[in-house]
Amino acid sequence: MEKRQERYRGKAKTVYATDDPQHLIMHYRDDVSAFDGAKLAKLDRKGETNNRINAYVMGKLSAAGVPTHFVRLLNERDSLVKAMKMLPVECVVRNVCAGSMAKRYGIEEGTRLPEPIFEFFLKNDALHDPLVNDDHIRILGWANADEIAQMKKMTHEVNALLKPMFETAGIVLVDYKLEFGHTLDNPQGPLVLGDEFTPDGCRLWDVKTGEKLDKDRFRRDLGDVIEHYREVARRIGAPL
Ligand code: TMP
Ligand code: ASP
Repeated sequence: MEKRQERYRGKAKTVYATDDPQHLIMHYRDDVSAFDGAKLAKLDRKGETNNRINAYVMGKLSAAGVPTHFVRLLNERDSLVKAMKMLPVECVVRNVCAGSMAKRYGIEEGTRLPEPIFEFFLKNDALHDPLVNDDHIRILGWANADEIAQMKKMTHEVNALLKPMFETAGIVLVDYKLEFGHTLDNPQGPLVLGDEFTPDGCRLWDVKTGEKLDKDRFRRDLGDVIEHYREVARRIGAPL
């Protein structure tokens, strides 16, 4: 698969065209960003670490029947993915109250939730990814009712697979963000999981100590960010 021109540069990944219009290359850079791009840095080995973790998690999800855009690892920092048209919304599931939900409702971080809570956010850094509901999404045309239902169902299915997987590794899957789209070759077909699953887009706490193993280490200046990402990889059995 030949890497061609740059298609899109995100905050942590760059997407390249290939010689096949149905496939793209996702290149994981060492860049890290928080607070919608307000805080930026480069962290040595982040790209290769996240590329590996994502490949492992996507592989587990697809083996369990969740359709994903991930095709295969190409090298340390590149993965081959199916070309997608993404929906402009982010799907968050929370098993434990933390982050923006704790702040928004004045609930203590670490409060267990009796059931997972699903939230939609609009993917728009300039607006700081505002919380949106089903009506906003449907009536403003970001996704239709069927896509909304599929996103919720698939995000909960992912939770049912990943929460126990992390638990076995001594890690609490506190919350995470997923993004969905349609593959270019089947634009009316079922939704497919895109983007990534890495410690950049989720909260992971050590089950015994509560130590943070995710991007909150960067957001909150806790240090040793990539060492902790690599600890996650080791614990879940993702080859580094
Ligand atoms: P939040 O607490 O900031 O709303 O985030 C909830 C989870 O979703 C957290 O693990 C981070 C992840 N997330 C992203 O990775 N990117 C985003 O743009 C948003 C809104 C959430
Ligand atoms: N992923 C977003 C950003 O880079 C939000 C965050 O993680 O804080 O800026």
